[in-house]
Amino acid sequence: MNETAQRLAAMGEKTKVLLVDDRPENLLALEGVLKPLGQEMVCVSSGEEALGALLDDEFAVILMDVRMPGMDGFETAARIKHRERTRHVPIIFLTAVNDDLDTALRGYSEGAVDYITKPFNPSMLRSKVAVFVELHLKTRMLREQTRLLQESNTDLAALAEAADKASRAKSAFLNMVGHELRTPLTVVSGYAAMLRAGDFGDVDERMMRPLTVLEEKADELAELVETLLSAAQIESGSVPESAEPLEVAEVVTAAVDRARGRAQLVKAEIVVGAIPSHLRVEFDRGHIGRVLDNLINNALAYGGENPWVRISVSEDRDHAVIAVEDHGDGIPVEMHERVFERFVRGSQPGAGPPGSGLGLYVCRELLERRGATLELTSSVPGEGSCFTVRLPLLLPQPARVAVLNQRRRESRSLTG
Ligand SMILES: Nc1ncnc2c1ncn2[C@@H]1O[C@H](COP(=O)(O)OP(=O)(O)OP(=O)(O)O)[C@@H](O)[C@H]1O
Ligand SMILES: [Mg+2]
Repeated sequence: MNETAQRLAAMGEKTKVLLVDDRPENLLALEGVLKPLGQEMVCVSSGEEALGALLDDEFAVILMDVRMPGMDGFETAARIKHRERTRHVPIIFLTAVNDDLDTALRGYSEGAVDYITKPFNPSMLRSKVAVFVELHLKTRMLREQTRLLQESNTDLAALAEAADKASRAKSAFLNMVGHELRTPLTVVSGYAAMLRAGDFGDVDERMMRPLTVLEEKADELAELVETLLSAAQIESGSVPESAEPLEVAEVVTAAVDRARGRAQLVKAEIVVGAIPSHLRVEFDRGHIGRVLDNLINNALAYGGENPWVRISVSEDRDHAVIAVEDHGDGIPVEMHERVFERFVRGSQPGAGPPGSGLGLYVCRELLERRGATLELTSSVPGEGSCFTVRLPLLLPQPARVAVLNQRRRESRSLTG
């Protein structure tokens, strides 16, 4: 078997070859020669029958005797070439040496036409046919692949639409859950506060502990609800925001004060370095508070035994820099960027401190929408982590001009 025939066998696909000859013994001989190609042979004994067979089936190539009674090979070929569906089917004429081939072939310039003189060389005939069969099979496979590709493109579009729909449904669901949980939670916290305040009579010392747990868990749940709501708002691009000029010292101190209660519960120490008093930013107070709460809560939650949190504020050119540092569990290096993704948590579900894995995602989104950033600037498992927030400073007019001039000078000295 030659190379092409071997390739055909490897393709594992089959097609049909049409053999046209008025003599049964010739058909038999042809069939014998082409058998090793492993394709299906359809034998007919006249031009008319050939045209009939071509109506029913698709053929890779036609082998046709030129001299046949009635419609001869040339005339049959002319009709085949005339039909739209069959005009590209290649034809190999089988002819005696003395037939006037040149004149005849000139009429069939369109499509592949070839000839083989009788008596033919079997292996040469086989190779010629094999080439056409291979071409046909490849074209067919290509056609099939194109169809599949088109189909899968359609599938993809449908999938994208479904995903979009699902995502909208998810946002709507989160929103609904958020709002529906918020109201009863406010009631729970409100009653707990009234109980503690003695609005319902004196509070027995024994009731203090359960009351504290109740308040603590209600706070935890409220935080989760706020996070869920924020995530839903971020996804649907509808984050309510009202930016105002803020003192960094004030927002940081407020966040630390909010964290004191929880810190006490887990016996954690919160250390705050000296905060420069002149730093001002333009931000949504609620957003920046959420960011600091999340970072401090993380530091407490993942701070190991006896957590220790240090918050430091500094100024770096035209940015206020807030660093929240702990010496807790740390984060493995391959997770450094991933912890900012939605629903990504360091621990397996059910293990570790409770949480949704949305905290850092929400923080980063809230900051970035106003040109601020949140980075994990260092974290080593077993040693601790440092998250850093950078907020663009709200500069007084002359200072702003000075910063712009300074930048201009720097870029000039860089380029020049
Ligand atoms: N200070 C930290 N030290 C060690 N690991 C941390 C720290 N902060 C975050 N991580 C890791 O990053 C993960 C993602 O934090 P993120 O705040 O986004 O979600 P969460 O704390 O799991 O849940 P929640 O949505 O309630 O905040 C955490 O599960 C934790 O594994
Ligand atoms: Mg968290």
